[in-house]
Amino acid sequence: MRIDIITIFPEIFSPLDVSIIKRARDKGLLELYLWNLRDFSKDKHKKVDDAPYGGGKGMVLACEPIFLAVEEIKKHNTGSLTILTSPQGELFNQKMAKKLAKEKGLIIICGHYEGVDERVKTIVDYEISIGDYVLTGGELPAMVMVDCITRLLPGVIPEEAKKYDSFFDCLLDWPCYTRPENFRGLKVPEVLLSGNHEKIKQWRYKQAIERTRQKRPDLYKLFVNKKGGQDAS
Ligand SMILES: C[S@@+](CC[C@H](N)C(=O)[O-])C[C@H]1O[C@@H](n2cnc3c(N)ncnc32)[C@H](O)[C@@H]1O
Repeated sequence: MRIDIITIFPEIFSPLDVSIIKRARDKGLLELYLWNLRDFSKDKHKKVDDAPYGGGKGMVLACEPIFLAVEEIKKHNTGSLTILTSPQGELFNQKMAKKLAKEKGLIIICGHYEGVDERVKTIVDYEISIGDYVLTGGELPAMVMVDCITRLLPGVIPEEAKKYDSFFDCLLDWPCYTRPENFRGLKVPEVLLSGNHEKIKQWRYKQAIERTRQKRPDLYKLFVNKKGGQDAS
């Protein structure tokens, strides 16, 4: 997949140069391009923002450089979807990530300051928020989305490793342990040491259900409805 990010702070994106995302990029599974919005400014000082009409504090990212950037990127990332990061957008979640991971390509616009000129919305396919809080810019949301979408791309991590991740089938993941068996009196549950794969599978599934019931009653409700309305506790 190809993802292009439009930002006034391309230097922020180093977290996408490490670990699994780096390996995905090295293997060519993710092609990531950062575009500095200032390169699309026609202003001699490379200014990309201006004061809001109607008054008020804060600056607004202007239409023209964003339109020009998207038009240029679309020549390279053909058939891509354009996303505007915004606290007012549809909430990003695993379901949306799975849907976006099937796209040919994405263009992500990072707002900053007071946000972007409203007319930018005429050239975007999705306005996406990563949560009900306000960040200083769209760079962290863009990184969150790229990270989450990339690990879902075929070949990035083994299918088995993500099959039962949290939110699969409306459940949270089960508890995980590794060596040692006993750490300061905190013991690994016997069943995981039993070698009985069927028992382990059942235990994990039950644990996933129980922790979902305790931690996320909203998801648990969905799970129960999916299973035909029977409370699994
Ligand atoms: C300070 S915010 C602008 C907030 C805007 N004045 C409002 O209240 O809706 C600046 C930029 O950060 C990004 N941003 C902030 N919070 C976000 C969130 N929760 N999800 C996605 N993007 C966010 C957007 O790109 C936004 O244009």
